[in-house]
Parts: sequence; C-alpha cells; structure tokens
Amino acid sequence: MRFVPTSCLRPGMVVGRDLYGRNSELMLAEGNILSELQIARLKSLKYQGIYIHDEISADIEVKDVIDYEVKHKLVGSLKNVFIETKDGGFNKKNVVNLKRMVDDIVNEMSSNDDIVYNMLDLKFYDDYTYFHSVNVFVLSLILGISLKLNKDELFHLGMGAILHDIGKVFVPKEIINKNGRLTDEEFEIIKSHTEMGCNYLREKWDISNESAMAVLTHHEKYNGTGYPYKLKSDKIPIYGKIIAISDVYDALTSDRPYRKAVLPSEAMEYIMASSGIYFDYEIVEVFCRKIMPFPVGTTVQLSNGMTGIVIENHPENCLRPKVRILDQDGNAVDCIDLFNNKDLLNVTIVSTNMSN
Ligand SMILES: [Fe+2]
Repeated sequence: MRFVPTSCLRPGMVVGRDLYGRNSELMLAEGNILSELQIARLKSLKYQGIYIHDEISADIEVKDVIDYEVKHKLVGSLKNVFIETKDGGFNKKNVVNLKRMVDDIVNEMSSNDDIVYNMLDLKFYDDYTYFHSVNVFVLSLILGISLKLNKDELFHLGMGAILHDIGKVFVPKEIINKNGRLTDEEFEIIKSHTEMGCNYLREKWDISNESAMAVLTHHEKYNGTGYPYKLKSDKIPIYGKIIAISDVYDALTSDRPYRKAVLPSEAMEYIMASSGIYFDYEIVEVFCRKIMPFPVGTTVQLSNGMTGIVIENHPENCLRPKVRILDQDGNAVDCIDLFNNKDLLNVTIVSTNMSN
C-alpha cells in the first residue's frame, strides 16, 4: 500500500484503506475501484491524497500510531465539543465521551515504548483546527511516553494537548481566518486564547490543574519571549513545553490560508535550530528520535530527479530512509538507501506528496 497524491489518482486504482468523510461517515471502502467521479469529489473536498493498493507497493505495510478510524472518531468528538462551546453550550455527555477516548488512547499507546510518530495526514482543509488538535495530541503523547511520564501524567498531557486551542472559539472568526498580517490589536486578541481556554475549562469542565496549565502555557517559549506570562525554561510546566513543540511541528507541515506547508524535514530543522531558544533541549532531543517525517508509503522526490516510495525508516537518521525508485511509468526499478549508501550522501528528499 502507498499514499498517492490526489493529483496523481487515476480511474481504476484500488483504494487501500477505508476513507472517512467530514462527519466520520465512510466515504470510500478499502478495495473500492476508483471512478472519475470519485476522484473529482476527492479533489473538490481538497483531500491531499489517499492510500492505494498496487503491485509496486503490495509488500509495503503502513502502520499507524493510532487506528485511522479511531482518529476520525476523535476528530468528530472534538468537533462536537468545539461547536457546542462556541454556541455557549455545554454537553456533559460529549465531554465524558472525549475524556474516555483520550483515556483509551493513552492506555493503548503507553503500552508501546518503541512508538514513533509516523502519521501521513489526511486532514480536511476546512476542519484544520480539529485535525491539528488531534495530531498535536498524538505527537505530544509520543513525546510524553519517551520522556517516561506515567499514565496519569499522560492523561493530563493528552487532555491539555487535545484542548490546547479551545480558547480560539472565543476569538472572532475574522481574526482567526485573516489572510493578511494581523494588527497589534488583533494579535493581542489571538493571544488571549490561552487564558480564555484555561479559564473556560476550569469553570465548566472537571479538568485537572495540570491539563488547564498545559492549555495556558502552550505558547510560552524557553527563552521567556512567549505568552501570556513570558515564563522561562524551568518555570514552564513540562506539559506546556511538549505541546509547544507538537503544535509548531504540525502547524508548519500543514497548508494554511496564508502559506503552504513546509517539508516535514524543514519543520524538523526549524525545531532543532530553536532548541534552547524557543524549545527545551531535552524535549527537542526526544522529538528528533521519535518523529519520522517521511513515513513508510510516502511518495518522495529526490534532489537527483528520481521519484520513489519510502519503504523503511532508520531510527538513527529519520531524514534518510530507504526508497524504492520508480521509473516514469511508475514501475519499480531500483532501491536506494539514503542512510547507508555513502555515494548518495549528496542526495536529499526535496518534495513529498504532502507538500506539492
Ligand atoms: Fe494556541
């Protein structure tokens, strides 16, 4: 199985994995043979791509950190909570449901010490906030597990991560979605989402102090230039520090109204360069070991003009995977190892299906 960008989908291709729609409904089932109409629909919904089964990728097994269906249910549950909050409502059933899902995922993920972040993202452009929050949640849990947090701590972290931006529902939509540069006044309003989110959760939810503090401090920076309190290094709770890195990584690698996504490798370089400035050294170090920017099944373009599919990642250097090379007709012609083959040290990944 491999991930094929929407622009490269052709009628007759076989769907590799169930695909869910905006309301978590099944849109395309695994094994479905794609029609012209279905491809047009995927394009109009701005899907970046889908998984397909084909001969050249038949032996490639794509493994997810969390089940794709579970992820979509979590997105749906979070969306309900955000919409109710925005409308001034509060539905205890939905809150309990979200907490239960977070608890289940924490239990499942924490039993795997070797867990790495390898999600190829299938987010809806229009539902960015919910998909982003779920990605930040998963990424934060992986960092928390690697930092040896216990289950209770992971639950506090998980709740803070998934709700980190809930305060944005109280910020006018025109400011959140503004295409141009924000005025100083608008930026101050945006910044208030940390305090508004924390206050709302403290008032309405039975949420732990740790989770509320995580929401409050996810924009603090290691060198004391963040907000709302300009906290420095050890004064920032670990939950806030973890969410800060996860938030920046997922935001940089996502298309936004005002800019295109950057390559995952570029986002990683930014985070490494910000170690000790914006982010905690120790967490950056864990981040570099646990994030696979080019998951197995990703189509990549190389700086030598070749195109291929990632078939294996090296934990020692996640930026230089093993790649199955394809010719112009899409046939597998070679396999190169960007990490172990020293003749290829000058070859880099310059593009992925996600950043085209
Ligand atoms: Fe935020």
